[in-house]
Amino acid sequence: MCGIVGYIGGEQAAPVLLEGLSKLEYRGYDSAGVAVYNESGMHVVKSKGRLAVLEGILDKGEKLPGTVGIGHTRWATHGAPSDVNSHPQVSDGGLFAVVHNGIIENYMQLKEHLMRRGVEFVSDTDTEVVAQMLEHYYRGDVLAAIRQVTQRVEGSYALGIICADCPEKVFAVRKDSPLIVGLSEGQNFIASDVTAILAHTREIVRLRDREIAVLTREGAEFYDEELEPLEKPAETIEWDVAAAEKGGYEHFMMKEICEQPEALLKTISPRIKDGRIVLDDLKLTRADIEKISRVYIVACGTSYHVGAVAKYAFEKLLRMPIETDVASEFRYRDPILDDKTLVIIISQSGETADTLAALREARRQGARTLAIVNVVGSTIANEADDVLYTWAGPEIAVASTKAYSTQLAVIYLIALYMARELGTLTEQELEEYTKALEKLPELAEAALSGRETIQYFASQYFNAKDMYFIGRNVDYAASLEASLKLKEISYIHSEAYTGGELKHGPISLIEEGTLVIALCTCGRLFGKMAANIREVKARGAVVLGLCTEEFAGEMKGVADWQFCVPKVPDFMLPSMSILPLQLFAYYVASMKGCDIDKPRNLAKSVTVE
Ligand code: F6R
Repeated sequence: MCGIVGYIGGEQAAPVLLEGLSKLEYRGYDSAGVAVYNESGMHVVKSKGRLAVLEGILDKGEKLPGTVGIGHTRWATHGAPSDVNSHPQVSDGGLFAVVHNGIIENYMQLKEHLMRRGVEFVSDTDTEVVAQMLEHYYRGDVLAAIRQVTQRVEGSYALGIICADCPEKVFAVRKDSPLIVGLSEGQNFIASDVTAILAHTREIVRLRDREIAVLTREGAEFYDEELEPLEKPAETIEWDVAAAEKGGYEHFMMKEICEQPEALLKTISPRIKDGRIVLDDLKLTRADIEKISRVYIVACGTSYHVGAVAKYAFEKLLRMPIETDVASEFRYRDPILDDKTLVIIISQSGETADTLAALREARRQGARTLAIVNVVGSTIANEADDVLYTWAGPEIAVASTKAYSTQLAVIYLIALYMARELGTLTEQELEEYTKALEKLPELAEAALSGRETIQYFASQYFNAKDMYFIGRNVDYAASLEASLKLKEISYIHSEAYTGGELKHGPISLIEEGTLVIALCTCGRLFGKMAANIREVKARGAVVLGLCTEEFAGEMKGVADWQFCVPKVPDFMLPSMSILPLQLFAYYVASMKGCDIDKPRNLAKSVTVE
């Protein structure tokens, strides 16, 4: 999605903005631009394509002097990627330059209103409406103009604004799209994501919905929507620049795959004390848990696939009805919720528009909400009744890996915690599962260790047109994620099916040489999966069988290729099986020469619907 950076200070703004934007490239974009103010006025330079094009035009910023500015990477929603549709968008009279993340839903209406009053528009964007409205309502007071605009626009926005009449200020306001202010000595920043300014400061203030920030060189002032001043204390970001750098890896994705054992350790170990799961950060009491009669798990994409695993885990451990839903469906299907419903919201970014809307719908209907989030202080984390963080550190690659693993770990923690409160497991089972959970980081290391075998396997099939993943039970849930990983970064068409569904249609897709990856880690269903492997092999498929070590011998006689992962309790198996399959997706994409960290058309944090 789009990215915003703004700067005011003693340095030249353009290089700072370009450097900040480069840190946001991972979010996905198709054009970039900056607006810088200097003594000769406001200068806007923008261009379709990669940031490198803009850096070339500006000679890395050298060609654009000035110490105040805003910058943007745009992921097209309204209007095609083009120079004119790129941000900053500038008002008719050249007074305001605006960068915007989000969508102004009523922009057509507002645009027509302004056009009837003679305002001329040059772009197809919704953002230009904001710039034009600011100038239209401006009577010498920028804050008052911002208020006029935010009272009229509907939708979501994070806005960075500069005004030619106030060259010593940068303005910012947000609603339903993240925006932070970074504070430092003699220079201050705005950004849509902390990674953009981490090289300069770790002191940040998060804007809440409809709050406005006014930055000068000396500091920042904050106002609510009625323009009443606000006190907003700064927080210190704990993780450092190195956590958001590649650290010797060719891609963030590989770095993040390899970080999983450590991320699991950080997520799990503080929450297990003397063999007991301790969720100090949870306000949910035993009485609250006893009241719950149904659990919904709601998320998007990879986070939704965690929900797919969670359904099996919760039903097994809690013997309670669980529904898993994609947030974009949940929010519009009029779900039946009440105060006996627990809605678990899963989101790496904590800002996904559909997931946030699902959370709000759940709260509106009186359900209890619990969010599993990676980004501290994000909107979902703030709005849920309870939040459990995944301590994965920053996830930069668009394709999610360590977020998936740590989200799974938190799901196991919650399920075991609730099982203890509800008494649905014996002491012995609880102890066994808790020990297994504690061992997960070490076993993840082992599952990642056969990297060369996976690399060799990838080298044999990276030219495939289609691939199919099959599995049963949790292996099916893991197949969904394995298939998504492959398609999003390698662009190979891929589907995931349950082993039992093959005969009901998908098997007609199998022909000589089709690659099928069969996840058979669930021991009690190994025989059923072996039968499915034979069925597809009889129709010409080449099969990689993934199983636990205890089935290695049997797998030899069934599949063409095999890979083993460590054995863990059934409901935790996806934590093992996904690891070689993330590596497989990575190697295939790498051999095909794909842009692994920034796959086409995708964005890291989907803050629009
Ligand atoms: C895929 C991927 C996406 C995200 C989805 C939800 O690799 O990363 O499918 O999982 O956009 O994002 P969050 O978890 O931030 O809500």
